[in-house]
Amino acid sequence: MLYNEKDQRFKRYTITSALPYANGPVHIGHLAGVYVPADIYARYLRSQGEEVLFIGGSDEHGVPITIKARKEGCTPQDIVDRYHTIIKDSFQELGISFDIYSRTSSPEHHETAAAYFKKLYEEGKFVEKVAQQYYDEEAKQFLADRYITGTCPHCGNERAYGDQCEACGTSLNATDLINPKSMLSGSKPVLRETKHWFLPLDQDEPWLREWILEQHKSDWKSNVYGQCKSWIDAGLQPRAVTRDLDWGVKVPIEGADGKVLYVWFDAPIGYISFTKQHCGADWEKWWKSQDTKLVHFIGKDNIVFHCIIFPSMLKAEGSYILPQNVPANEFLNLEGDKISTSRNWAVWLHEYLKDFPGKQDVLRYTLCSNAPETKDNDFTWKDFQLKNNSELVAILGNFVNRTVVLTHKFFEGKVPAQGTLSEADMEVVKELASYPERIGRSLELYRFREAVSEMMNLARLGNKYLTDTEPWKLIKTDPERTATVLNLALQICANLAILCEPFLPFSTAKLQKMLNFEGKHAWREAGNASLLAEGTQLNPAELLFEKIEDSAIDAQVNRLLETKRQNELNAWSPSEVKKEVAFEDFGKMDIRVGTVLECCKVPKADKLLQFKIEDGMGTRTIVSGIAKFYPEPEKLVGMQVCFIANFAPRKLKGVESQGMILSAEDKDGRLVLITPSQMVTPGCNVG
Ligand code: 2FM
Ligand code: ZN
Repeated sequence: MLYNEKDQRFKRYTITSALPYANGPVHIGHLAGVYVPADIYARYLRSQGEEVLFIGGSDEHGVPITIKARKEGCTPQDIVDRYHTIIKDSFQELGISFDIYSRTSSPEHHETAAAYFKKLYEEGKFVEKVAQQYYDEEAKQFLADRYITGTCPHCGNERAYGDQCEACGTSLNATDLINPKSMLSGSKPVLRETKHWFLPLDQDEPWLREWILEQHKSDWKSNVYGQCKSWIDAGLQPRAVTRDLDWGVKVPIEGADGKVLYVWFDAPIGYISFTKQHCGADWEKWWKSQDTKLVHFIGKDNIVFHCIIFPSMLKAEGSYILPQNVPANEFLNLEGDKISTSRNWAVWLHEYLKDFPGKQDVLRYTLCSNAPETKDNDFTWKDFQLKNNSELVAILGNFVNRTVVLTHKFFEGKVPAQGTLSEADMEVVKELASYPERIGRSLELYRFREAVSEMMNLARLGNKYLTDTEPWKLIKTDPERTATVLNLALQICANLAILCEPFLPFSTAKLQKMLNFEGKHAWREAGNASLLAEGTQLNPAELLFEKIEDSAIDAQVNRLLETKRQNELNAWSPSEVKKEVAFEDFGKMDIRVGTVLECCKVPKADKLLQFKIEDGMGTRTIVSGIAKFYPEPEKLVGMQVCFIANFAPRKLKGVESQGMILSAEDKDGRLVLITPSQMVTPGCNVG
């Protein structure tokens, strides 16, 4: 029985998590936004004894996959095979407890998605329209979605896609783009007629308005509700659910050769086809029974698809339930910058697992405590280290370790007798009793940050209890009281061994083993101080968490700095050529070669070098801002440089500079002196 559903309206829970595109690995943004909260929710409900089906899988269609395959000279199937495996394995290693993790390129999925389309088609649920669409005459192909780029009419971004501008987030039609260009051949596309099938969302507006804006006004998150409201208020438009492409689920009707289902039509049907794969004949109760609660975990960019388009598909079919909630999260940034696959600005899960073996729970904990629940949030490696060292190690790990070690030391590792509880003990017991409900209620309301912080508060309670009672001193004067204290501390540990499980499954398993308290425990067992029987033999103490050293964090930060540097270099392009000048104007510049006689740093000026130059007529002093790039200025003596001889003298940090030395600025901002390829007579002209 859940805390927020006293009437227990629901008998079972279908929990879906957005299907990640199989065109790259998953990163911490995906995890914090979708998979970690979904997994915590599923684990919690299971621990509450609820019947749960937790579904995941790879989204293997869509234009980004075919574009990647083209770029790499392989097939789309090669791409999705590669990433599906990486994603699936890394989820498993992180303990994401899917009941099934499947894929949309599977024949079973194709069959289910095609049948779904066919049923709606036969029942006349689509509107058929012939429309003008961009076509690449060189590649002989219609240009769906991301096959076309151009300038966004809303924000001027020159790299907007045919379906969306990533700079301003607006959803677009390819024909909205200014200066459209084919991604295939680079040519300017032409408009050609093609037939497509549309979901008439405009007709769904009345019930969507009532269902979302009235019925779910108070239980959907405000970010989700707000997005839905603005879509509905702006007026819903019919949405094409087919595309002219050859990668995807073939449109299963006559006259639709060369057409596939739009990826956003087939992908959510994946939730259904995976249920069938997992459950066989018994699948329908998860989707068609009024006592099933359907919950979609997604990121904010998926809201319209899960709150409007997919529900409209479900309603059109007629026999399906609608989601009860869609707890979408905002985005997670990384070190102050938007996570980006193309800029490699991400912490990739499979790499994290390699770099931090055995530390799955640290990532789960950090991402949950910092989840972008109500606004975008930032992940920093420093914060990750802090969460580990100051919370997991210093609070939870420390409490458990002190308790188990002391029990071994004073009571041969056997749970001592509880004896008589003092008033202070009773207070602790009372507080302990409130935790299952405190954590559970937060989880049921999708407040994962609040829930995990309550979980840590329970460890804090335990730590404070030990600090207040000081059993390590007490043993000398009052062994009986010490037994009571350690018994109670161990009872708190056992409660943690139940209540931490959804958040920290790996550490909880270790803790259960230490306490000899293994096996499945129901959430409702927690909240009392008699979980461990007197005399139970504990196993040796084992550290639940280990300190993460600065060196491990520095290595990650340095990797990101290197990525940033590479990105800046890749983004470099030569500056625009300046306005044309006449020969006479150039002739006004007196550029010459001189030989360096002396060179030193200008005192109290980090950037400046002071040169003494032999210029053929005598010597002159020139100050140049290149000190950072020539840390040993004396080595420049004897070298020849080019300088402007008729540059008006000016004072720099008290030194008069009589000219300007020429240097080239490389793409990383480095200044490099320009020098003749052979020695020449000092004072000769350059031109
Ligand atoms: O945004 C995405 O990554 C999509 N692949 C999510 C699809 S969710 C579902 F509908 F399949
Ligand atoms: Zn834009």
